[in-house]
Amino acid sequence: MKPFKLPEDFLLGTATAALQIEGGDTNNNWYEWCEAGHIKDGSHSKRANDHYNRVEEDIGLMSQINASCYRMGLEWSRLEPKEGCFSSEAVAHYRREILLLKQAGIEPLVTLFHFSYPTWFSKSGAFEADTCVERFKRYVLFCVESFGDLVSEWVTINEPNVFAVSGYVQGVWPPGKKDIPLALKIMRNLALCHLETYPIIHKVRKERTYPGETRVGVAHHLRIFEPHSNSPTDRLLTWFLKRAFQEAVVKVTTKGSLSFPLGMGSPKGVGPFCDFLGINYYSRDKVKATAKGMFKQLVQPGAPTNDLGWEIYPEGLYRLCKDMYQKYGIPIYITENGTCDAEDKFRAQYIADHLYQVSRLIEEGIPVKRYYYWSLMDNFEWIEGESARFGLIHCDYETQKRTIRKSGRVFSAISRDKGLTQDVIDEFEIK
Ligand code: FCB
Repeated sequence: MKPFKLPEDFLLGTATAALQIEGGDTNNNWYEWCEAGHIKDGSHSKRANDHYNRVEEDIGLMSQINASCYRMGLEWSRLEPKEGCFSSEAVAHYRREILLLKQAGIEPLVTLFHFSYPTWFSKSGAFEADTCVERFKRYVLFCVESFGDLVSEWVTINEPNVFAVSGYVQGVWPPGKKDIPLALKIMRNLALCHLETYPIIHKVRKERTYPGETRVGVAHHLRIFEPHSNSPTDRLLTWFLKRAFQEAVVKVTTKGSLSFPLGMGSPKGVGPFCDFLGINYYSRDKVKATAKGMFKQLVQPGAPTNDLGWEIYPEGLYRLCKDMYQKYGIPIYITENGTCDAEDKFRAQYIADHLYQVSRLIEEGIPVKRYYYWSLMDNFEWIEGESARFGLIHCDYETQKRTIRKSGRVFSAISRDKGLTQDVIDEFEIK
């Protein structure tokens, strides 16, 4: 690896989601899913990192690793514990957290929905019911009115595709259904939730003359899909998967227009509906047809993989960002990128390799503006529970002791130097 440079206005930070770190909340869909025994290692979201009570300590750690931005989640079930009843205590908590971040010179990017929602919302049909749009609008309006003076950058929805596929196709996440037409409806409804709330966030911040340029986007989970062989079925399935899993949902949330297989027309008119394109990038899949129109997603033979078996393919980040910029022409935020590496053997190299790809993009004039490493610290990784460790910081869940890993020190140096220097390459043996 050779040294590389990132622009001075490029911000590096970390990402988390409220449910994955806060602990303590019992009023949401994931609490119930844990109670029902669906977590592989038997751990529970009610523990997580106890971040709700350790906000100062964790912001202190962000400063220690030189983070200049932070993608954080708001927990809907804390803010609106009963339908239409909002909690002033939760507002005070998050305002304090955001103020502490700003005092530490860390720019917040706030996610409104990251897979967890209140129990009353589950009971009312969640995103299956068409009423979800009005309910989500009310919640978003409340959040912008409560935090809009402090927060100019917002992610409305995290990974509509992963939410729909895990909960409604594979049935491994709540609500545990296996119903493809319903999964498509969920993606459409989430897209509508975004299209309806994008203008609300802009309007409230503008009318109240809140400081900072309002920027709103969606954090999309994007993968590289490639056919396993040159056979027509592998190629057709690859095309279908790309379209159904990611391209249609990016298009509707960015430009406002529905396309196959989500539908037709522009339900809320023609965009723009995003000020940046949020990309969560992790891996590549080789698509192989199996019996009866089904397929498998395989790893490229011989390719490096992480603890969860996900292929590590840094160039995929370059390819996706380039493709997305050609299609949409708006700034890109890498809203998540990271790896599961309990022993911290390859995480530093992973970060250097992916940021090198970012530096290539920027050199070519593609406006990548932010990089949020997933994640600040090991946390509650959905059905993988506490066993999957993605953190720059190790967490001992029993004692809640946090320890910065070697990869955290590498991240810290890259963020401080706005690039990778020869000294860091030598000191940390980056290849
Ligand atoms: C993404 C999720 C995030 C985390 C990482 C590993 O798909 O958005 O919450 O689980 O994967």
